[in-house]
Amino acid sequence: MNRSWHQRVDALRRAGLSYVDRSRWNSLAEHSIVSALEPMTPTEESLPMPGSGSMESTSDKFVQLEALRAEVSVCRKCSLLCDTRTQTVFNDGSPNAELCFVGEAPGADEDARGIPFVGKAGQLLTKIIEACQLQRSEVYICNVLKCRPPNNRNPSPEEIANCRPYLDRQLDLLRPKMMVALGKFAAAHLLGETPDKVPITKLRGSVHDYRGIPFMITLHPAYLLRNPSAKRDVWEDMKEVMRRLGRPVA
Ligand code: URA
Repeated sequence: MNRSWHQRVDALRRAGLSYVDRSRWNSLAEHSIVSALEPMTPTEESLPMPGSGSMESTSDKFVQLEALRAEVSVCRKCSLLCDTRTQTVFNDGSPNAELCFVGEAPGADEDARGIPFVGKAGQLLTKIIEACQLQRSEVYICNVLKCRPPNNRNPSPEEIANCRPYLDRQLDLLRPKMMVALGKFAAAHLLGETPDKVPITKLRGSVHDYRGIPFMITLHPAYLLRNPSAKRDVWEDMKEVMRRLGRPVA
């Protein structure tokens, strides 16, 4: 039995992951990690067999993302947000996704369900994804902040600074082929700027670089709900994203 494999599973348990919820079950099971997590005190036989190099590194990514999720779930860096949140909101979609959407922060629906972009703006994002001939489950969705700011106010500079390492680590593990920054808070994070220095309407439509990963800046779906005529711009942005992914849409 491969020792480093045992060490990774142990690290995951130490990070607090003792079970896998249904929404993440299939992707983890695919990579034999589920059998490593149950039962809680596995015998040698219940641990996964080491796979090929590439399977192990894909599994590594899942393990490390799950460990990061567990770390985020107990974060108490922003005392106000942890007192008011129902739960942290880490991601939706596939860790194998080629395309990653980065939003701002969870709202009330996301806070209640623990999944990003499930409210009205999220439903619009789902429509945009489907218009690109993708399913939500095929992309990865996450936010700059992992906790809901009360009354959906803008994230404060201190909250952004506290949460920054989590998103950086999440994206470093994910390494998608392409990302889409939804709105100015996501654009600011990926550009390494402060939100006040990001003229979103000027920057949208162009592709930038985040640690070697190209990303498109576009308008936030919540903005589109208030300004439906701007949907045309977002659609142009998404067509360019899909063209760069080699999956052009008409
Ligand atoms: N808006 C965001 O930026 N993120 C969500 O998860 C929901 C709404």
